[in-house]
Order: sequence, then C-alpha cells, then structure tokens
Amino acid sequence: MKQIHKLLNLVLPAITILAICLMLPFLSVFKFTDFIFRSLFPENMKGKHLAYEYAKKGAYLTLIARREETLRKVADKAAQLGSPDVLVIPADVSKVDQCKQFIDEVVNHFGQLDHLVCNAGMVFHCAFEDATNLTTFEQMMDINF
Ligand SMILES: NC(=O)c1ccc[n+]([C@@H]2O[C@H](COP(=O)([O-])OP(=O)(O)OC[C@H]3O[C@@H](n4cnc5c(N)ncnc54)[C@H](OP(=O)(O)O)[C@@H]3O)[C@@H](O)[C@H]2O)c1
Repeated sequence: MKQIHKLLNLVLPAITILAICLMLPFLSVFKFTDFIFRSLFPENMKGKHLAYEYAKKGAYLTLIARREETLRKVADKAAQLGSPDVLVIPADVSKVDQCKQFIDEVVNHFGQLDHLVCNAGMVFHCAFEDATNLTTFEQMMDINF
C-alpha cells in the first residue's frame, strides 16, 4: 500500500502538470477569441426590455415597482412571450422593510431567487453649490443604493 501511495505521489502531480500544460494553450486561445468576439460584437441591448427578454427564455418572473397597473400590463405581455408564472408585487425599493418583504414573498412563491435585477433608479443633475435641498439626494441614494 505504501508503495502505491509513493507511486501515486510521484505520478499524479506530473500527470496533472502535463495536462495543464497541454490544455493551457488551447484554453488561452479560446479565451482570447471569445474576448475579441464579445468586444467586437457586444450584445445589442438597445430597445430591449429585460423582463420581456427573460420571459422569452421561459424564466419565472417577479415584477416590482410602485405602479401596480403598469406592472400588470408588463406581466400580461411577459406571460404571452413565454414566462410560465409572473408575480406582480407593488413596492417601493427605497423602503428597506418593503425590500425584505418582497424578497421573502418571491422565495415563498418560487422557492428560490436566481437573478435579482436592480433597475429602479433615478438621476439628479445639478452643480453641487446649487444643491440647497439635500432631501433629494437622500431620496436618490435610498432608491439607487
Ligand atoms: N435612461 C437612460 O438613459 C439611462 C442611462 C443610464 C442608466 N440608467 C439607469 O437605468 C435605470 C432605469 O432607467 P430608466 O430610464 O428606464 O428609468 P425610468 O423610465 O424612470 O424607469 C424607472 C423604473 O423604476 C421604477 N421605480 C422608480 N423608483 C422606484 C421605487 N422607489 N421603488 C420601486 N420602483 C421604482 C419605476 O416604476 P414606478 O414609478 O412605478 O415605481 C420605473 O418602472 C435607472 O437606474 C437609471 O439610473 C438609465
């Protein structure tokens, strides 16, 4: 048994290093080609609505925003496009308790959460010295982060 262990200790590292050396050039070429291809032909997301793209791939969806009526319209279209189940939850992402609540609701409904797309956001432009009302920044930080 000792002899076998000794032999394996000698042979296995050598085989592993050899396999890595043999595979590395192919892997590097593949990675480089893939990188060039993705740089030259990035996926065009222009005009694409993420929920609909997920729906076309047959994903289960949860749609969250404050306006329920708008969400329902998106949910109907997503279902038509191929989503087997679309859950609509009206909520405000700037409220931590509501975030916790809808995450729980999603996990309870679907059993798991695979992708979380944090798209809700707002932008506020002004020169820093012109900003007199800091509550706007607070609101922006609460929604975006
Ligand atoms: N448009 C651009 O050119 C551009 C460029 C770069 C980055 N972005 C970023 O991309 C994201 C989406 O931009 P967009 O132009 O599509 O914005 P948008 O048209 O204003 O849509 C924002 C969405 O987020 C929801 N939302 C806003 N505040 C929310 C809150 N407190 N809780 C829950 N949902 C909320 C809105 O629904 P409700 O109002 O019903 O809640 C709406 O569906 C933003 O994060 C933005 O900063 C946009």
